[in-house]
Amino acid sequence: MSYFVTGTDTGVGKTLVSCALMHALASQGLSVVGMKPVAAGCDDDNHNEDVEQLRAAGTVLATYGQINPYSLYHPIAPHIAARHVGIRIDLSRILTSFRELLSQADEVIVEGVGGFKVPLNDQQDTAEMAQQFELPVILVVGMRLGCLNHALLTADAIAASGLRLAGWVANILTPDMPALRENIATLEQRLQAPMLGVIEYQVTPDSHEMAKQLNIQLLKNNVPDEI
Ligand SMILES: Nc1ncnc2c1ncn2[C@@H]1O[C@H](COP(=O)(O)OP(=O)(O)OP(=O)(O)O)[C@@H](O)[C@H]1O
Ligand SMILES: [Mg+2]
Repeated sequence: MSYFVTGTDTGVGKTLVSCALMHALASQGLSVVGMKPVAAGCDDDNHNEDVEQLRAAGTVLATYGQINPYSLYHPIAPHIAARHVGIRIDLSRILTSFRELLSQADEVIVEGVGGFKVPLNDQQDTAEMAQQFELPVILVVGMRLGCLNHALLTADAIAASGLRLAGWVANILTPDMPALRENIATLEQRLQAPMLGVIEYQVTPDSHEMAKQLNIQLLKNNVPDEI
């Protein structure tokens, strides 16, 4: 089963959790590959840090272009970054790369861009991209003030798009969030999906360490019955 990893916002730990998921799946003997369909913010060689991290976490060889069909130079909203360089993000091109990756690995972990409904072009957004991939969604909740609202809105948006929330991860972004455990308990009560783990704050974040804090068995237990 492959997954689409979204987050409550930009900078909440999607890349780290995606890599951690890949390590956890790989440790069960599965071949994995990461995908970042659209990356906004590249160096002068047109390389993006998220793509490099996902690529390093993979166990099969895939080209940079398959992992990241769209590399946009400016670290701004993708449809605007694309417009600045005179292109339009085309979902069918992304879907082609996704299918190629699917044929190469047991699991494809697709990291979204920013939050769940970030525009990709004048008509479509990342929610529509996830719909086209038909993937269950994993939500990374960056634990900070405002995350309850963001998490619950995102869960509503996932349900409204017809996709399934397969699980969520509480990622602790600061060492001193007030009422942290009460916030996590609130989400456990209100989100209709298993919490795959609480990722503790790490001074030097390491996706291998994070993998130990994820219970991916809960994903397998949370597969709906075949109709
Ligand atoms: N558990 C954690 N402990 C400490 N720092 C963390 C933790 N999780 C994430 N971070 C830090 O937060 C920042 C954002 O993490 P990351 O790049 O994984 O987020 P993202 O959601 O993928 O961001 P983007 O929207 O840019 O793709 C990074 O500097 C990362 O090192
Ligand atoms: Mg990222």
